[in-house]
Amino acid sequence: MAKVIVHADKATAAQAVAATIRDLIVAKAQAKQTAVLGLATGSTPLPLYAELVRLHREAGLSFRNVVTFNLDEYEGLAGDHAQSYRYFMEQNLFRFIDIPRENTHVPAGISADAAVTCADYEAAIRSAGGIDLQVLGIGRTGHIGFNEPPSSLDSRTRRVHLDEVTRRDNSVFFGELSLVPHGALTMGVGTIMDCRQVELLAFGAGKADIIRKTLRTQPSAACPASWLQDHPRCTFHLDPEANARL
Ligand code: PGA
Repeated sequence: MAKVIVHADKATAAQAVAATIRDLIVAKAQAKQTAVLGLATGSTPLPLYAELVRLHREAGLSFRNVVTFNLDEYEGLAGDHAQSYRYFMEQNLFRFIDIPRENTHVPAGISADAAVTCADYEAAIRSAGGIDLQVLGIGRTGHIGFNEPPSSLDSRTRRVHLDEVTRRDNSVFFGELSLVPHGALTMGVGTIMDCRQVELLAFGAGKADIIRKTLRTQPSAACPASWLQDHPRCTFHLDPEANARL
């Protein structure tokens, strides 16, 4: 059963998750191992990334021995497109820390063969030894990554169609709905379930209904995040507004 922590606010939640990530990175460095992080985009993880940057600048936290895999990318967007998730990661985290760029992975939004790109992504995660800790947000459709309903428990990294709710929610970043891609490449639910630890963040009243559905209904493809109920080490970090309907 997933654990739920209700924090005073999103800044406090971000500090808690950043501290968990710091402890993992430090423990792995002491063991002369690499920490493999799964990262997410969207507005939710922004305070977390700001806190990781602060820990790097003010507390000497180094990311030299960290490898990252992002959950997803819009289909058709190059890494230098202002709305691509590669660009998001550069702007909000990577350029402020000492992570070697070759250690960072985001699915390629443009490639000759999306199926090959997705299979290669799964292989890269495997050859890194799997993901130690995955950061997640949650969409109002119940998506994790871009696993829209229905997404099965055994789904792997693949090309998907975006739900219209998701396209509308994300159109604020693009300026208008018609500019939001219809497709994406995303790690699957199975890929996420394989991560050794999952830290999901959800903030604000707009997430209260989907948090309730995610944690209070039988796990099913109709609410992909609900599969996390069966993850052996998953914590939901909520603010009071996102917790309001639990
Ligand atoms: P948000 O998106 O952080 O912008 O609310 C979350 C998600 O869609 O996973």
